[in-house]
Order: sequence, then structure tokens, then C-alpha cells
Amino acid sequence: MASLPVLVTALLATSTWATPILSANINIGSSLNVDVDLKGVTSTLKSLFEPNTIPNITTSRCKVYPGDAAWPSDDAWTQLNDLSGGRLIADPTPLAAVCYPDQPGYDAARCASYTTSEWQRSYMHMHDPIEMLSPVAQGMTCLPPNLFDSQGCSRGGFPKYVMNATEPKHVQLAVNFARNTGVRLIVKNTGHDFLGKSGGKDALSIWTHWMKDIEYIEQYTDSELGYSGPVFKSGTGVQAFEIYKAAHEKGRIVVGGEGETVGVMGGYIQGGGHSPLTGLYGTGADNVLAFEAVTADGEFVVANSTSNTDLFWALRGGGGSTFAVATSVTVRAHADLEVTASRFGFSSAQTGNETFWAAIRSYVDSWVANADAGTYTYWTLIPTNGTFAFAFSPFFAPGKSKKEATALLQPWFSQLNELGVEFDPNITHFDHYYDAWRSSFPLEAVQKPNVATGSRLFPRGNFETAEKRQELFEHIKTSSEKNRVQVHFNMQAKDPAGGDNAVNSHWRPMVSFSMQSVRWPINSTAEQILKIRKDFQDVDMQSWRDISPGAGGYLAEADRMEPNFGDAFWGDKYPKLLELKKRLDPYDVFFATTGVGSERWKVESIDGLPNENGKLCRVESA
Ligand SMILES: Cc1cc2nc3c(=O)[nH]c(=O)nc-3n(C[C@H](O)[C@H](O)[C@H](O)COP(=O)(O)OP(=O)(O)OC[C@H]3O[C@@H](n4cnc5c(N)ncnc54)[C@H](O)[C@@H]3O)c2cc1C
Ligand SMILES: *[C@@H]1O[C@H](CO)[C@@H](O)[C@H](O)[C@H]1NC(C)=O
Ligand SMILES: *[C@@H]1O[C@H](CO)[C@@H](O)[C@H](O)[C@H]1NC(C)=O
Ligand SMILES: *[C@@H]1O[C@H](CO)[C@@H](O)[C@H](O)[C@H]1NC(C)=O
Ligand SMILES: *[C@@H]1O[C@H](CO)[C@@H](O)[C@H](O)[C@H]1NC(C)=O
Ligand SMILES: *[C@@H]1O[C@H](CO)[C@@H](O)[C@H](O)[C@H]1NC(C)=O
Ligand SMILES: *[C@@H]1O[C@H](CO)[C@@H](O)[C@H](O)[C@H]1NC(C)=O
Ligand SMILES: *[C@@H]1O[C@H](CO)[C@@H](O)[C@H](O)[C@H]1NC(C)=O
Repeated sequence: MASLPVLVTALLATSTWATPILSANINIGSSLNVDVDLKGVTSTLKSLFEPNTIPNITTSRCKVYPGDAAWPSDDAWTQLNDLSGGRLIADPTPLAAVCYPDQPGYDAARCASYTTSEWQRSYMHMHDPIEMLSPVAQGMTCLPPNLFDSQGCSRGGFPKYVMNATEPKHVQLAVNFARNTGVRLIVKNTGHDFLGKSGGKDALSIWTHWMKDIEYIEQYTDSELGYSGPVFKSGTGVQAFEIYKAAHEKGRIVVGGEGETVGVMGGYIQGGGHSPLTGLYGTGADNVLAFEAVTADGEFVVANSTSNTDLFWALRGGGGSTFAVATSVTVRAHADLEVTASRFGFSSAQTGNETFWAAIRSYVDSWVANADAGTYTYWTLIPTNGTFAFAFSPFFAPGKSKKEATALLQPWFSQLNELGVEFDPNITHFDHYYDAWRSSFPLEAVQKPNVATGSRLFPRGNFETAEKRQELFEHIKTSSEKNRVQVHFNMQAKDPAGGDNAVNSHWRPMVSFSMQSVRWPINSTAEQILKIRKDFQDVDMQSWRDISPGAGGYLAEADRMEPNFGDAFWGDKYPKLLELKKRLDPYDVFFATTGVGSERWKVESIDGLPNENGKLCRVESA
């Protein structure tokens, strides 16, 4: 542990640390001043709730944890609960705690209902204050033993307190309390993040799930962003299925994820966010006109094209849990449109290996045309015991008639026919986007406890010549033969209509957002898992990186072990984002693993694996 003077010097020595203390508030143009009334609070506790403080940075190397002298007293936590009107959840238990006789709330019958299908439905987890869809990143400390070879149940990488926030002032309370006490702060919306960025051992969590207001505004004008038209102002807890339904009722659509339960107004939109509409209207973040947010100072502000413009830029793509906690987002509403979609599959069990791979090879030839046409294809390549399964899950063509979509697919379908592949493309036309979305995409599952996923945004350069397409195909095939599960999204991310923002610059030349996953035996030891995951990065992912030099990955669907994540997840936006992080959050109140500026900290996990089950501590050299 660093001695006190050394640490303080290290923090203040560089100019990047010295400036923000003076300038932290300069950028905060207008504050909405939802002040928390501290009148009844005793003078000893009052300082824990004040906004705009410079935190006491003479605490330890790590954030403050239970057992530390600086850990807030019970009275302090009680006061936090009281000030929020009783919205603080203390000592939340993992869902699977009901399976363990030594846990409070043990309930064998309820545990028995956690069959694979029930447990893996994302609906079950999204309503829980702490559960994440990435058990591997949580630290796997409490899983249903009837499904997994589980060792027991403890809270692990889950938080110790949860602020069930429904209003900005609940968020302000938690932010101020965390900044003033040094307790680790996290933000959880649905918990969908692949890397576990909505978790954190013994943290104070702001749970945004219940900020569900949706307001439709028929006419909104922002001349800076060149927009005049209808918008939705949405609470940040609103999910895909909710906003799509609300939009449908107004004859509108909004850019959001394909996944039904994704928190499209939370981490999704701050991280960029791809959508079945991305080929037409860009990423989720490109469609944002304004945020309301609580800053690291605890101020409640508007960030838009004229107010807090740096924050507005950073929140559009810079990643969640990094610059502020957003409480609402105002997004463009587009006119509803027709859609044609196709779902089908074939397998090497029917075709034999040679024909199967010829079919995949010929498919690669159509990706650029499909992307240019604004279509979005979610397709999978799954190896099982030496056979390979391909599926369109689906091909999705917004704004296209059945005839237009069929014409687009025809060149490849002709090749499939020539190869003798039997398939039934089931090309279906829908009058409304909402109906097309609902019948076309699967309800996705919680991640398995033995999987890590890496991603790559393959740019146009990978498709320019037949040789390049052959090279990409061979790498995809090799990954399959090595038993990697693959999910690809063939699309383009149109340039932002609203001008520059912090969305990863690697999205723009992209034709395929591609993912592969490594799986390990469920009973592997930590050392075995680490070795497998390192090899996955060094070999499988590296081979994809080698053929796409200068490209990147997607920060929300990626591996915690992604090397050079700053460049991979933000491209040429990273230097400016780093500068803004130091200015807007000079004391690192916010942190997310692989987030902007996260190089300064590390979760020191108990088992040495990349997960949230450990203390968050400073990296001395960073
Ligand atoms: C089944 C499934 C389907 C998916 N489909 C898509 C898809 O179609 N397109 C796509 O682009 N991605 C998709 N994703 C990835 C998804 O975008 C990310 O998981 C994203 O992080 C989800 O945001 P969330 O707020 O729901 O999740 P969370 O895990 O709760 O949050 C993600 C991150 O954002 C932070 N955060 C959340 N809300 C706020 C807020 N209000 N203010 C500040 N920080 C906040 C959290 O702290 C965390 O760091 C999918 C993921 C899954 C598991
Ligand atoms: C700052 O931290 C030190 C060491 O934990 C403690 O002695 C001091 O009282 C703290 N100051 C404030 C204002 O909380
Ligand atoms: C969180 O708040 C919402 C909205 O008030 C409420 O419906 C829900 O029951 C709360 N959840 C928990 C776990 O306290
Ligand atoms: C941006 O926010 C400010 C502060 O709330 C507001 O005055 C201004 O009208 C907003 N801009 C637009 C285009 O709505
Ligand atoms: C794959 O093969 C293994 C070993 O032969 C077998 O146990 C398993 O059931 C097979 N899986 C499938 C999906 O066929
Ligand atoms: C197809 O290829 C896989 C390896 O890539 C092999 O395991 C399998 O046996 C092959 N199937 C046939 C029928 O040759
Ligand atoms: C074709 O797709 C539509 C829409 O997804 C579905 O309703 C229909 O059942 C499918 N038909 C077949 C034969 O699978
Ligand atoms: C995991 O289980 C397999 C099959 O039962 C066994 O061969 C292997 O030794 C086990 N590995 C560990 C690390 O326990």
C-alpha cells in the first residue's frame, strides 16, 4: 500500500490532475438544481451528502470497503436510505441464493424452478436489483447448483447496497455519498453488458431500471444538430420492448437494439449501440438529441448541443458509468416503415463439409451490397461435434419490399442452388417495423458460465478483392474448426446525422461486426480458464486482428481481456475522451472496466480471473 504522501503527490503531480480541480465546474453550463434537502441531517453526517466537494483523497490505495476504518457507519447508510425515502436496498441476495441452505431465503421449490430455460431468460434477471447476464464477469459466486457445478453462494462481484432510483435526486444522493466516502460506485440498468460493467464487489449501485417514463414530443427543434421533428424523451430504465411499443403506437420507430430486453436508453446508447435500423439511421448514440444526467459533482444537468456540450459529446458513444449517470435521453423518432425479413438455416450434416464451406464462402461476397442497402443480418455459425450450422437469425431489410429484398439475396441464393444446398428462406414482408422486429429476433439468453466472447468490426478493406474475402472466410472457417461459436452482424453504421460524437470511429467503415466465443470445460480451474482465455486472445482474436489492422471491437459486446481497448473501442476518439474524463470526473467517482480512463484502476479479483469479485484499486504506475 502506498504511503500517504507518495499517493497524494502521484495524484497531483501531473498537470492533468492539477487542472481539473480548478476547472471541474466550468463546463457545467446549467444545472437543474434538484437539491436534496439536508436540513434534518446531523452535522457529523452532513459532509457525506454535500454536492460539489473535493473528496478526501487521503484514503487508501483502493476504494473504501467493508472492514476499512473509512467504511461509512451504519448511521451513515441509514441516513442515505432515509434521505432517499427508503429506496436503499441493503445486502441484496443473488437470485440463486434460494438454492443454498446456508443462505437467507433458502427455498428449494423456487430453486427447482430455475430450469435452464427459466434461468437463462433475460426477463428473470433484468428485474433483479443486482443480477447480471454475464456470470463469468460477476465471478460465478452464486449459480443454481442444479444447472451448474457450483461451489456455493456468496455475493461475490455483486454490490452491497443498491439505490433503487426513480428520480434524479436518488442518483444525486448516491453519487455524492460515493464521492465523499470513497465507496465504489456502480451503475446497473439491465445488467446486459457482456463484460460485467454493471457489477462491482461491495459497491454502492445505482439501479436505473425503474426510470421508466416515456414522453412523446411531436415537434422538437435543434438547429445545431439539424433536427426538427418528433422525439421521445425516455427514462434511462426504458428497454427495447417498451420504447418500440410506445413508438409503434405513435406510428414511429426509434433506433435501439435487436435484443428484446436490452436497456436501450442506458448503457446501450452511451456505448454506441447497433440496431436493425443502423444501416439507415446510424448507431443509437447518433440519434440522441439530449441527455439529463447527474455529474460526478452531483449536479443534475442537461447535456445537449448548447448546454454542457463536452458532456453531450462524450455521452454519445463514450461508454456508460464513465462521465455521468444519465436519467433521461431524448432521441429522434423516425417514421414507421415496411420490413422484409428472412430466417433460415442449413447445416454441414445435410450438405457435407465441402459444400457447406463453399456456401459460406459465397455468402461473404454479398456482404458489402447488403450493408450498402441498409440491411442488417444477424447470422450464426455454430460448431457441434464436427458439424457446423449456419443460420440467418434473421436477415432484416428495413424499408424494403419483398421484391427488393429478394433481389438483394438472389445472387447468393443462386449460388446455393448451384451448390445443391437445400434451404427454405421464408422471406416474409411486414407492413410495420414493430411486427417485423417481434417475429424476427430471438429472446436472447444469459451468458453461459464457461464462455468468453471477443469482437471485431471488419471494415470495407476486408472485402475489397476476392483475395481479401477469401482471407476473411478462411479465418472464419478456422475459428469454427477450432470450436468457436460465432455471431456476425452484417451492416453498415451510417454517418451520424447529428455531427461528430464519441462513437467508436471504427464503426464507420465497418461491414461486419463479428464475434467469436471460446468455451471451457465447466469444471476447469482458475489457472486453466486463464490459460484458455489468454490463448483465445493471443491466437483466435489475434488472427482476426491481424487481418484487419487498424480496425476495432465493440465495447458492449467484447472481452474484458481485449488488448489496447482504448483504441479498439473508440479509435481516434480516445485521446479526447481521456481528456474529458479527467476534466468531467477528476476523482474517478465513476469507473467501468475497459471504460475511458479505467487504466488507472484495476479490480484485484480474488481468483485472479478477469471479473468483478475483488477490490477496485489504483494501478500505481498509471
Ligand atoms: C441478450 C443481449 C442482446 C443484446 N443486443 C444488442 C443489440 O442489439 N445491439 C447492441 O448494440 N448491443 C446489444 N447488446 C449489448 C448491449 O448493448 C450492452 O449489453 C449494453 O451494455 C446494455 O446496456 P444496459 O444499460 O441494458 O446494460 P447494463 O449492463 O446495465 O449497463 C451497461 C453499462 O452502462 C452503464 N450504464 C447503464 N445505464 C447507465 C446510465 N443511465 N448512466 C450511466 N451509465 C449507465 C453501466 O454501468 C454499465 O457500465 C446485447 C446484449 C445482450 C446480453
Ligand atoms: C479524510 O481521511 C482521513 C483519513 O482516513 C481522516 O482522518 C479525515 O478525517 C478525513 N477527512 C474528512 C473531511 O472526511
Ligand atoms: C424498486 O422500485 C420500484 C419502483 O418504485 C418498485 O416497483 C420495486 O419493487 C423496487 N424494487 C425493489 C427490489 O425494491
Ligand atoms: C438545451 O438545454 C438548455 C438547458 O436546459 C435549453 O435551454 C435549450 O433550449 C436546449 N436546447 C434545445 C435545442 O432544446
Ligand atoms: C457430442 O458428442 C459428445 C461425445 O460423443 C456427446 O456426449 C454429446 O451428446 C454430443 N452433442 C451433441 C449436441 O450431439
Ligand atoms: C467436417 O470437418 C470437421 C472438422 O472441421 C471434422 O471433425 C468432421 O469429421 C468433418 N465431417 C465429415 C463428414 O467429414
Ligand atoms: C415464416 O416466417 C414467418 C414470420 O417470421 C412465420 O410467421 C412463419 O411461420 C414462417 N413460416 C415457416 C414455414 O416457417
Ligand atoms: C473435469 O471433468 C472431467 C470429466 O469428468 C475430468 O476428466 C477432468 O479431470 C475434470 N477437471 C478438473 C480440473 O477437475
